[in-house]
Amino acid sequence: MSTQPTLLVTGASGHFGRRVLELLLEAKVGTIIGATRTPDKLADFAQRGVIVRQASFDEPDTLLKAATGADRMLIISTDAVGISGERIRQHVAAVKAAEAAGVKHVVYTSIPNPGPNSPIILAADHYATEQALEASSMGYTALRNNIYTDLQIGSLNRAVQMGQLFSAAGDGKTAYVTREDCARAAAAALASSFEGRRAIDITGPEALSQADLAAIATRLTGKQVTYVPLDVESLIQGMIGAGLPRPVAEVYASFDTGMAQGTLAHVSNAVEELTGTKPMSVEDFLIAHKEALLAPAPAH
Ligand SMILES: NC(=O)c1ccc[n+]([C@@H]2O[C@H](COP(=O)([O-])OP(=O)(O)OC[C@H]3O[C@@H](n4cnc5c(N)ncnc54)[C@H](OP(=O)(O)O)[C@@H]3O)[C@@H](O)[C@H]2O)c1
Repeated sequence: MSTQPTLLVTGASGHFGRRVLELLLEAKVGTIIGATRTPDKLADFAQRGVIVRQASFDEPDTLLKAATGADRMLIISTDAVGISGERIRQHVAAVKAAEAAGVKHVVYTSIPNPGPNSPIILAADHYATEQALEASSMGYTALRNNIYTDLQIGSLNRAVQMGQLFSAAGDGKTAYVTREDCARAAAAALASSFEGRRAIDITGPEALSQADLAAIATRLTGKQVTYVPLDVESLIQGMIGAGLPRPVAEVYASFDTGMAQGTLAHVSNAVEELTGTKPMSVEDFLIAHKEALLAPAPAH
């Protein structure tokens, strides 16, 4: 009989979930369940031995069924960020279903410093989910993922085109981390034998300011990029002018406020401690995606 635990990944058909499934298969950790709203999207993983089950956080019964027999479960935060309270309801339902199904340990993708004082609007969802885990009888690992380095490609591409990088982050620094390193950390935490309760900042190897990002973009592309600090309202107005609805612009701008306040500045060794390999630096990631930095602006 296998002594390896059965591991469940929710939201498994997204970028993050698929990568975690891949890493778990490579690590040969035992029985893997992938839960998704659309099992067809995981047909390739089913062929490779992953047990694929249909589940949605909006239908807790499906999640309860999907989690049956799982010892450890990765709850990947959903992308339902536009509807007020939706994500909290989804995540709390997922935590309750995990507990009811007899899951012993939950790994959850959170955000640094998610407490009530965070100016980052989306942090409230993560805080509520961490509180639900704390109130449960299960062990948990809250992986407080910093901002993905991957997301900087789009904004730096625009900055290279314009020669200016606009932000309301002031001199605040951010410990950007690649999605790949977050996925590696999540796979390792899920497959680990840790049974207690912990919250860990998942970060890149250093914290960088917007001026640092502008300097890296200048160095890599040979095109001068100057950092232009803005106040928050000017940033919001700029995004509205570019076509974003005000509530969406406010969500994005709240990340800048968080950066300005140092909410995302802490650098940890957690990626290396969990995976045995150091996280990738922003500069190395951007070197690997240099062509995307220089790509022409998409036609409208
Ligand atoms: N740290 C950062 O900078 C950063 C940036 C972007 C996003 N994130 C967070 O990281 C998460 C994963 O990122 P990603 O790139 O993999 O996003 P993605 O490819 O858009 O995937 C979104 C995921 O949400 C799941 N989901 C949506 N509604 C669901 C529901 N009702 N029940 C269960 N699962 C549901 C989807 O699962 P199925 O379709 O398989 O059911 C899918 O895996 C995002 O959802 C977001 O919370 C973090």
